[in-house]
Amino acid sequence: MKNITIAVDGPAGAGKSTIAKIIAEKLNVNYIDTGAMYRAFTYLIISKNINFDAKDKIQHELKNAKIEFKNNHIYLNDNIIDDEIRADIINKNVSKLAKLAYVREHLVFLQKAIADKGNVIMDGRDIGTKVIPNAKYKFFITASLEERGKRRYKQIIKKTPGIVLDELIKDIARRDSIDSTREASPLLKANDAIEIDTTYKTLDEVVSIIVDYIMKGES
Ligand code: DC
Repeated sequence: MKNITIAVDGPAGAGKSTIAKIIAEKLNVNYIDTGAMYRAFTYLIISKNINFDAKDKIQHELKNAKIEFKNNHIYLNDNIIDDEIRADIINKNVSKLAKLAYVREHLVFLQKAIADKGNVIMDGRDIGTKVIPNAKYKFFITASLEERGKRRYKQIIKKTPGIVLDELIKDIARRDSIDSTREASPLLKANDAIEIDTTYKTLDEVVSIIVDYIMKGES
């Protein structure tokens, strides 16, 4: 399979990255987690104690930061920061930076350059609508809020004992709201995307639906 481009969008916790990673391996394409790029930049701004209103300073950091996603790792200035970007402080703040049009413009520019090389599966919120509007395959992955909360809970309970499911659900709902109502490319299903509600589906089922669809398209 050559030069295949796949866009995967959907709300927080729907399982996009787990699904996209497996598909990348099965189809031998590069996986790019664009959410990790927004998280990496948020990590940088928070670690430098920069206020989210300080546009000039944020723009300066944008210009100088080297943010890359390769081999399933997120790099900031050549350092892997996979764990740092999953911290609670990043969960709570990332949508505040991701809603700024000038931040998005820069990261979308980087993402388009990666997508232009082809052979990629990219997940995020605006991949099918903004980053790769001409992607051959587009999927929009959803699940009920409660189910997404439960999945996140299972993922992080070992590392974060004492976490409360209700709090997690509220946090996801708050992020959904910011991601969907922001002015700059809000979370939207592309008209030509295939929507898959994963609430009552296993991971294997969802992966099969997507892989079968792509294989048909390529045959
Ligand atoms: O998918 P995630 O939870 O790691 O995404 C982190 C944040 O970044 C989330 O608030 C949505 C935002 N995001 C975005 O606005 N556009 C993308 N293409 C990817 C993520």
